Amino acid sequence: MSLTLIRGGRIVTAVDDYTADILVDGEQIVAIGRQLPAGSDTRVIDAAGMLVFPGGVDCHTHMENTFGPSVTADNFASGTRSAAHGGTTTIIDFALQIPGTSPLQAIERAQSKAASTASIDYGFHVIVTQVDEQVLADMRHAIRHEGVSSFKMFMAYPGTVMSDDAAIFQAMRMVGQHGGMIALHAENGTVVDLLIREALAQGHTSPRHHALTRPAILEGEATHRGIKLAELAEAPVYFVHLSAKEALKHVVEARDLGIPVFAETCPHYLFFDDSAYAASDAEDTYEHARFVMSPPLRSKDSQNALWTALKTDDLQLVSTDHCPYCLKEGHLGKVNQKPLGRDDFSRIPNGVPGVETRMTVVYDGGVRNGRISLNRFVELMSTAPAKLFGLFPRKGTIAVGSDADIVIFDPNEAHTISAATQHSDCDFTLFEGHHVHGKVKKVLLRGELLVDDGQWVGKTGQGRYVPRGELGKYW
Ligand code: URP
Ligand code: ZN
Ligand code: ZN
Repeated sequence: MSLTLIRGGRIVTAVDDYTADILVDGEQIVAIGRQLPAGSDTRVIDAAGMLVFPGGVDCHTHMENTFGPSVTADNFASGTRSAAHGGTTTIIDFALQIPGTSPLQAIERAQSKAASTASIDYGFHVIVTQVDEQVLADMRHAIRHEGVSSFKMFMAYPGTVMSDDAAIFQAMRMVGQHGGMIALHAENGTVVDLLIREALAQGHTSPRHHALTRPAILEGEATHRGIKLAELAEAPVYFVHLSAKEALKHVVEARDLGIPVFAETCPHYLFFDDSAYAASDAEDTYEHARFVMSPPLRSKDSQNALWTALKTDDLQLVSTDHCPYCLKEGHLGKVNQKPLGRDDFSRIPNGVPGVETRMTVVYDGGVRNGRISLNRFVELMSTAPAKLFGLFPRKGTIAVGSDADIVIFDPNEAHTISAATQHSDCDFTLFEGHHVHGKVKKVLLRGELLVDDGQWVGKTGQGRYVPRGELGKYW
């Protein structure tokens, strides 16, 4: 067994903040204490002056995901390397149920993509696109035997992945009885579709019309509907990429009543707002394609409400929805990227990168700016996602017996974010030019160094599938 001693760092978990040494034996933390001795065969990492966090858990990424004609720019190799550089050591990605096939086949396909290429640990949510008795039985099997206890369903994108209310209700009712959870993409898809058709018919083809045809009120309506369906089904429900105060208010109201409703927001909603789309028609520019994600960027009021909700636990997580498509066609040979919608905004693949910047930007904009505490930061980045999605206490904390997934973070190092120095295969970051304080210096996954002084020292394929158990133990 290999021994590693991380000496003298300031260990921060969701509840603790103290200076001590961490001894790692093989894959796990075996001791935490002051002045722990190092044998001659112990690798010693000096963490004096550094913050020491549990590895980040990002439970919303899309590596090598196919949506229509487009495949996301990162596969599991590039995307997990990028994640590791940003301090994330576990992701929960998506396995898409192709209509007419089983969720179990979706898991198999996703496993085969990640198995020899991921360099951090990973799990899956299944995107359920079709519900019948067999699919429900297969979902039950996935919870019990495949370690997949969460399922995403879309209230948007009719004709492709959208589920109707009855299908969502049926799935919720089943998972609610078997320790699973439905995660909802909440936008009223049929009305959004009508607005898109009307905009295009009027000749509005530029990217900012993506945002204008997906108004916040339709996210609010779908969120409210999703909560009511979950209440009737007596099941927990999770809202992915919540962006608008119109949606947040329903989550707050339900949580205040003790209903098990949970939600994440994403860094792009915390740092950008709908002024990014501002343009007179004359200034309509294809540059706005970089801000095409669903839901779109919202008002400054919404952004402020999201920050407050992170502090008050009305929102529980910050996930990235890392779903990168390049701005330029042909970058690293990738096709059908953002330029696909040059003449029709509805064809721009939806999504933005973010897996590498999540921890740094939330540290800088959240902790350093005084919006959240350091403990809350760790809770949002690591502990809460691990607890909510069945990975805790193996992941999500620094404790004896936990996996030695550890981030050594310099809180003072200043740097400027740029796609040119990142590790994703995507050609842009929304945070280009942002000057931040706080840098991921070293990252360990189950005791192995992946990143050492900012340099990649990990191995492609060293990530492992992490089966998740029944949910609800920590709610
Ligand atoms: O625009 C987004 N969010 N793309 C990724 C797919 C999804 O809905 O999460
Ligand atoms: Zn979504
Ligand atoms: Zn997503």
